[in-house]
Amino acid sequence: MNKVILSVFVFFIQFTFIFPAKSQENNHSFRPGAIWHDDRGIHINAHGGGILYFDNKYYWFGEHKSENSNAALVGVTCYSSDDLYHWKYEGVALPVVRDLSSDITEGCVIERPKVIYNAKTKQFVMYFHLELKGEGYKASRTGIAVSDSVAGTYKFLKSYRPNAGHFPLNMTEKQKQERTLPDYFSAWWTPEWRQATVDGMFVRRDFDSGQMSRDMTLFVDDDGKAYHIYSSEENLTLHLAELSDDYLSHTGKYIRIAPGGHNEAPAIFKKDNLYYMITSGCTGWDPNAARLFTADSIMGTWTEHPNPCSGKDAELTFHSQSTYILPVQGMKDAFIFMADRWTPRHPIDGRYVWLPILFENGLPVLKWFDKWDLNVFRPDAEVDNTFEIGKQTFLLYHARTKIVKSMQSVPGRRHHSPRL
Ligand code: GAL
Repeated sequence: MNKVILSVFVFFIQFTFIFPAKSQENNHSFRPGAIWHDDRGIHINAHGGGILYFDNKYYWFGEHKSENSNAALVGVTCYSSDDLYHWKYEGVALPVVRDLSSDITEGCVIERPKVIYNAKTKQFVMYFHLELKGEGYKASRTGIAVSDSVAGTYKFLKSYRPNAGHFPLNMTEKQKQERTLPDYFSAWWTPEWRQATVDGMFVRRDFDSGQMSRDMTLFVDDDGKAYHIYSSEENLTLHLAELSDDYLSHTGKYIRIAPGGHNEAPAIFKKDNLYYMITSGCTGWDPNAARLFTADSIMGTWTEHPNPCSGKDAELTFHSQSTYILPVQGMKDAFIFMADRWTPRHPIDGRYVWLPILFENGLPVLKWFDKWDLNVFRPDAEVDNTFEIGKQTFLLYHARTKIVKSMQSVPGRRHHSPRL
């Protein structure tokens, strides 16, 4: 009799926890790199995106990518979700326009849109990297749009290169006075060129017209102050710039981070009064190794640490590039690393790589999981243990490890013993 009960129990456990019914499996887990359907059954089209939590819902804004072009033919899309697994298509939050004289005319480049909410003005403010139609990546501007409702439609306000007429707070007087400019060099990457770059020759070159701003993110601190972090100086140096109280302009207060370090795709979060930033190197659509920085004050100093990724393909950020770091609501120290796996020849097929940020020795660590869910952030979760079935890697949590342990006699199931 006991045997019968045990078999029924094992059968039940097997199908409930290891091989859940398909719908359940799709509904309550993240599958980095897989096709991700929205409520219409269409692969989510919100690349290089960011997420705003507002009124008990998450809103995901991203670049609409088409079949053959990375240019903006539609605009910025918006999806909403209660649980981060299911996403409802909300439509085009910021449409490109037909008017050829507009900065956001169809065929321009709109990348890495991020939306923040200004509690004082009750406005939703969208920033994005804008390239003017037909000019490649030369314009390097920041675009700004606003809306009174979260999903839009957003109204395009302006685009410009930030902080014209202002030097960064962390440039020395000597660096400000230097006369060397990029034109003086016939070749890049010589030791002299590198030193001149570190000493801010590109900042000086663009002082009057404003600083270049490409890959970007936004961050709102606990005091409500907002910051724009972007790749500047020909993608050689990151700038972190303070925004005005209404979030609609730059105040002229900004710093340079890792001068000459060639960082892009910045994503930032705060935990226990420490700021963390993950970036990528600059290899276009191709993946490279992520970089990690920390600072105890947002205006620096920012310190670089080793690549936060570990395991197979860590040097390629698991074939992806950072785009945003999402704090999960209602869970302590729960942050999701959001990245894009670009497919530039078929842009619409680009995939999303979302991974939990784990902490080891006080620093963020990213590990690959074929499949995971928010239970990983539960205080009692055992996140070090994974097991494989076929080609898939599963993540074990404390509560489940006990169950899996009792299944050791189930034939054909391979797992690593959990650390209890
Ligand atoms: C990447 C950047 C993307 C896009 C692409 C164009 O480095 O992160 O957002 O700009 O280059 O080649």
